[in-house]
Order: sequence, then C-alpha cells, then structure tokens
Amino acid sequence: MTHGLNTIRFVSVDAMMRLVHHVGVESFLTGLAAYVEADFRRWESFDKSPRVASHSPGGVIELMPTSDGALYAFKYVNGHPQNGRLGRQTVTAFGVLAEVDTGYPTLLSEMTLLTALRTAATSAVAARALARPDSRTMALIGNGAQSEFQALAFRALLGIETLRLYDIDPAATERCAANLAPLGFSITRCTSAEEAVQGADIVTTATADKRQATILSDNMVGAGQHLNAVGGDCPGKTELAEAILHRASIFVEYPEQTRIEGEIQQLAPDHAVTELWQVLSGLAPGRTGADQITLFDSVGFATEDFSALRFVADCIAGTEYFEELDLLADPDEPRDLFGMLMRARPGEAA
Ligand SMILES: NC(=O)c1ccc[n+]([C@@H]2O[C@H](COP(=O)([O-])OP(=O)(O)OC[C@H]3O[C@@H](n4cnc5c(N)ncnc54)[C@H](O)[C@@H]3O)[C@@H](O)[C@H]2O)c1
Repeated sequence: MTHGLNTIRFVSVDAMMRLVHHVGVESFLTGLAAYVEADFRRWESFDKSPRVASHSPGGVIELMPTSDGALYAFKYVNGHPQNGRLGRQTVTAFGVLAEVDTGYPTLLSEMTLLTALRTAATSAVAARALARPDSRTMALIGNGAQSEFQALAFRALLGIETLRLYDIDPAATERCAANLAPLGFSITRCTSAEEAVQGADIVTTATADKRQATILSDNMVGAGQHLNAVGGDCPGKTELAEAILHRASIFVEYPEQTRIEGEIQQLAPDHAVTELWQVLSGLAPGRTGADQITLFDSVGFATEDFSALRFVADCIAGTEYFEELDLLADPDEPRDLFGMLMRARPGEAA
C-alpha cells in the first residue's frame, strides 16, 4: 500500500457498491471467502477475545478488534431488530485497518454492505466443509438484509441454485424473490418455516428478534441437513429449539464468544463443540456421515471482519474506489502539534 503519511484510504458506501460491481458480486464473495478461509487457517496467529458488547433494551452496539501482529482491525457494529419499523437497518457497521508497527490506520471503510458480504462468505465457507456435497436446495428463513447475500454466496461456493424462502413478513419474501429471480435462482415462496424446510439440504436462518425465538423446532430438522444459524447472535437472542442442538454436531467460530451469544448459550458451558478453524485446517473432522445433522452456530467473529478489510484494501489498490481522508493530524515536526494548529489560524499563510 502506498499513500500519504497523514491520509488514510476511505471506502464510502458508494465506493463499496462500485467496487463490488466492478469485481462482480459472486466473484467478490468468492474472493472474500478465500481471505476468510485463509485467515481461519492461521487462527493461532490472531489476538482473540469475545467482542465488547453494549446492550440496551432495543439492541446492541459492539466493538470487534483483532490483530495478526502486522495488521490490526476493528469493526463497530450494531444490531437493532426494531430499526426496520423506523425505516432503518437492523445492522450497520464501519471498520478500520491499521499497521501494528506504527499504530497508524490505513483504511476506514463502510461495513454495512461488507458485513452482509462477509457473513455470507463465512457461512458458505463453513457449509462447503460441513454440508453434504450433494446439497442442492437451501431453505432461507428470514428474508431481510442478509438474505440475498447468503443466497449468492451459497451459489458461488456450493452451487446452490434452488431456494425455499420464508419470512413472517410476506413483503420481505416478495422483495427477496424479486431481487434473486432475475439472477437465475429457482425460487419457491413458502408460507411457513415448516414448509420452507421441506426437502432442503441446507437451512439458513437469518431472522431478527431480540428474544429466544423458535424458528426451527425439533421436528423440522431431518437427518443429513446442514443448519446455518445466522440470526442468534446475542445473549437472549436465539433461533433454534434446544432439542436440535442435542442432535446436531455443532461447529463454532470462537467458543468463548459463541457460548455467550450463539445458539449454544442454551447448553451447558462444557457441551462439546468443534472450532471451524480446526476443520478448515484439517485438524478436526467436519461432516462424517450422510445422516449427520451439522450446525454452524454463526455469531460473526472479528477475524472475519479483519479478512474483509484486508480483502478490500487489496481490491482497491490501483483503483479509484476510495478517497484519501484527512483523518490523522501529522505535523512535519512530530512534536509540534500545537504549532501546526496555530499555523492554520484563519489568515495565516499555509
Ligand atoms: N452471525 C453473523 O455473523 C451475523 C451477521 C449479520 C447479521 N446477523 C444477524 O442476522 C439477523 C438478520 O439480519 P438482517 O440484517 O437480515 O435483519 P433484517 O431485520 O433486515 O431481517 C430480518 C428478517 O427476519 C424476519 N423475521 C423476524 N422474525 C421472524 C420469524 N419468526 N420467522 C421468519 N422471519 C422472521 C423479519 O421479518 C425480517 O424480514 C439479525 O438477527 C442479525 O443480528 C448475524
């Protein structure tokens, strides 16, 4: 990366949209998935901690930091399930990438779109390792902001072309279907979650509700299915009936965070889970039989955002999809911060 000492690269929402179209949405997801997987495979080089969450009655604001010793990243993200009623997003985010050696940030990026992309890419990376290789049909329950991204990542990485959609709000299903049908998916609109899971090899749940919901009950999950549970990601906010968890082989990002936030908050703290990085590194088995029920208990971990920011930093190099942002006060004489301020007095020569 080459840039001015006192400017950092800024990727706005507009620039991110232009970048994604320049690369192509599915190519972007495939490229991002490769970065996510590569970083999972070097899991031990990362500084890790559960994210710092500030809960309120309407939602949560979270900070997600990590570092590999050369780069440092953090994401600011919120989750407010009722925001839709105010015409706002449930999830918004931005993030920063910095050099560890100097502590100087190098990239500030919108991450609302990027979170949807990285969540979908991570789900598909997990499913590629855990779902039956002959999986063809995915139920997509919760047809909000994340849903189309999930569909596209599963097509790009697993070849899933057939979708069964359900949302408690039929308008959400209609919008999701209208967005995806022109892209060539075969789509069935369902009137219940029970109907959606019929014949599905993979079930993705991406609903938003700040409570312990039962999107999937025990009788709805059959042998051989892969569950990609995206929406349960906060204390007191889950999507699956506990009984399912006792039948499934459970795979998680970072157990210390997932035990607080994921579906497994419903289980004893020592319930056996497998870490996804171990499966991706060949250190632990993924799916071991066609009848096994596998569950990716996704909550979203800081390394995925690190990977996403690293991917964006590489993608924008040599392009016009960023601007230089005057974010860092960096006087020529490092200790003369005050002098720099005084020289900027109105009327003073620059
Ligand atoms: N695991 C992760 O990494 C990760 C990342 C991003 C978002 N999320 C979570 O994913 C969820 C979805 O996010 P979003 O941005 O798409 O939210 P959104 O508000 O845009 O969409 C959620 C959808 O779920 C529907 N829904 C709510 N209750 C339902 C139910 N009982 N049955 C069927 N549908 C139901 C809503 O009508 C809405 O259309 C949120 O809970 C969010 O916190 C997780």
